Amino acid sequence: MLRRLHAEQPESFAFTPANLVWADAQITKYPAGRQASAIIPLLWRAQEQEGWLTKPAIEYVADKLGMAYIRALEVATFYFMFQLQPVGSVAHIQICGTTSCMICGAENLYAVCREKIAPTPHTLSADGKFSWEEVECLGACANAPMAQIGKDYYEDLTAESFAKILDDLAAGKVPTPGSQTGRYAAEPASGLTSLTDGAAGKPAHNATVSRALELNDTVKRIDGSEVPVLTPWLAGPKAATKPAVKAAAPVAVAPAAPAKPAAAVPGTASTAVAAKPAALAVARGGKADDLKLIKGVGPKMEALLNRLGFFHYDQIAGWSAAELAWVDDNLEGFKGRASRDGWVEQAKLLATGAETEFAARARKEGIYDKDK
Ligand code: FES
Repeated sequence: MLRRLHAEQPESFAFTPANLVWADAQITKYPAGRQASAIIPLLWRAQEQEGWLTKPAIEYVADKLGMAYIRALEVATFYFMFQLQPVGSVAHIQICGTTSCMICGAENLYAVCREKIAPTPHTLSADGKFSWEEVECLGACANAPMAQIGKDYYEDLTAESFAKILDDLAAGKVPTPGSQTGRYAAEPASGLTSLTDGAAGKPAHNATVSRALELNDTVKRIDGSEVPVLTPWLAGPKAATKPAVKAAAPVAVAPAAPAKPAAAVPGTASTAVAAKPAALAVARGGKADDLKLIKGVGPKMEALLNRLGFFHYDQIAGWSAAELAWVDDNLEGFKGRASRDGWVEQAKLLATGAETEFAARARKEGIYDKDK
């Protein structure tokens, strides 16, 4: 299948503040110089924010990870999970068209899509609420035919039950995912023939369906409100980074009327307005903290930080998002490293006398991050 960027594109893209916090936390998973490894999760989050993956979003993520645009475009166009054209505002319907589903009636489901949504896949319905496509096996073959809608599977579908699900979604109702013929999971359609002992006491729905019903929303996209952002890899399992900014509703950027976000500084961690943190002329008491115990700070970086007026863990621990953005932008050849390596989170622990995994190892083995 030919995968091309959509002909109509918005002018710009920027992560919402909450998604930016999340993205920065993901980048800290990877060692210095390997930030490109975060490309797929960041592209996915961009798609969750907008509904589809726009050219400005791909380039924004590439800038953030210090990648050439073509590298990010290669990833976005290779994986079918990335939607390169606008999708329905309510739901994008993915119908499995592989062997089991095709034998069991997937064609009937396509007919419903053609009638109720659009004659061709990857085309918005007249009201813009729905779009559809055929996908390869989604791994629910025992419950064929099936469709994925949002995060949920709808199984054992017929044309009638599938049409009703679409009608319910269009009416703002929350349909029940899972088997539409009452199967609990993937047991025989005619009922259990073995392991029948616990059947009487089991809940009405399996865990996946129960969770979807509990959320009372089967098509909600991830919007950054799933906090806290956990970063246990920075300092052991207890560390958790609360977002520096409150979760905000996603800003939809429609192709027809794009919103212009604040300009992002390529390679830096924040779109916040940069503000210089309070600096010291000299270290307090003439004794600076060993900033090299912060992962990402080598001897050259420590000297640079000292020149900028930063000598102590508590100074770094107190940087706000805007101050972090200023520091990121003033790290000369290392722009963006402060947020990528989670300096604030590390400094918070070190300032209280706690140890990060990196600091403990550095003390023991005399290893310090080398400035490259
Ligand atoms: S063939 Fe449709 S889910 Fe596997």
